[in-house]
Amino acid sequence: MSAKKPDLHAAYALESPDDNKRLYAEWAGDYDEGFAALEDYQLHIHTARAFVAAGGQGPVLDVGAGTGLCGAVLSGLGVGPIDATDISSEMLHEAMRKDIYRDAIEADLNEGIPVPRESYSGVVSSGTFTHGHLGPEVLPALLRVARHGAQFALSINSQHYEAKGFASALRELEKGKIENLQLKEVRIYGDLAAGPNKDDTAYIALFEKA
Ligand SMILES: C[S@@+](CC[C@H](N)C(=O)[O-])C[C@H]1O[C@@H](n2cnc3c(N)ncnc32)[C@H](O)[C@@H]1O
Repeated sequence: MSAKKPDLHAAYALESPDDNKRLYAEWAGDYDEGFAALEDYQLHIHTARAFVAAGGQGPVLDVGAGTGLCGAVLSGLGVGPIDATDISSEMLHEAMRKDIYRDAIEADLNEGIPVPRESYSGVVSSGTFTHGHLGPEVLPALLRVARHGAQFALSINSQHYEAKGFASALRELEKGKIENLQLKEVRIYGDLAAGPNKDDTAYIALFEKA
């Protein structure tokens, strides 16, 4: 068992993919109730709604799908089929129990996604581009599995966006790899949240693969 208690504070302090695997193995069973419901987590809802409002359609890849909260909202909005990818088999196990995903793909995004190129018409991600998790260096791996014109809706923690240079990474991708970039700032948690992160925000980056 990890020495770190599975909570937001521990998640933000992670330093490696192995750290992530360890923490989420412990957190998987309690994540929906002990974190998302308790903290009035909203980011998956904002991300799924932004994807649909932008005209996003399946097949969709949910990146860092975790226990499947974003996929569940997407599915409720009539989007499908949806595949889940995540580094944590325990989180994916919880996601598959929701009975909304077509397939679960266990993978470390830093090493690429083991599916054929141009497999998806849409890519969503909520809560995975954040402190201690993933930076802009994995965006090319996401673009590889997307078709021409595929709609992306990726949440990026606002502080992490600044700290990890997402603005310049996205500017580079705008030179021929992505189009129609829009950034929308949203609150990660709802009015029932308490604690030091209750007012944190994220950008939803909406763009299409060129
Ligand atoms: C905060 S959770 C978000 C889960 C879900 N999308 C949500 O909004 O509730 C972050 C997820 O990113 C996954 N993750 C972290 N590092 C990863 C990596 N290198 N490759 C793939 N997934 C990773 C974790 O296992 C975890 O399920």
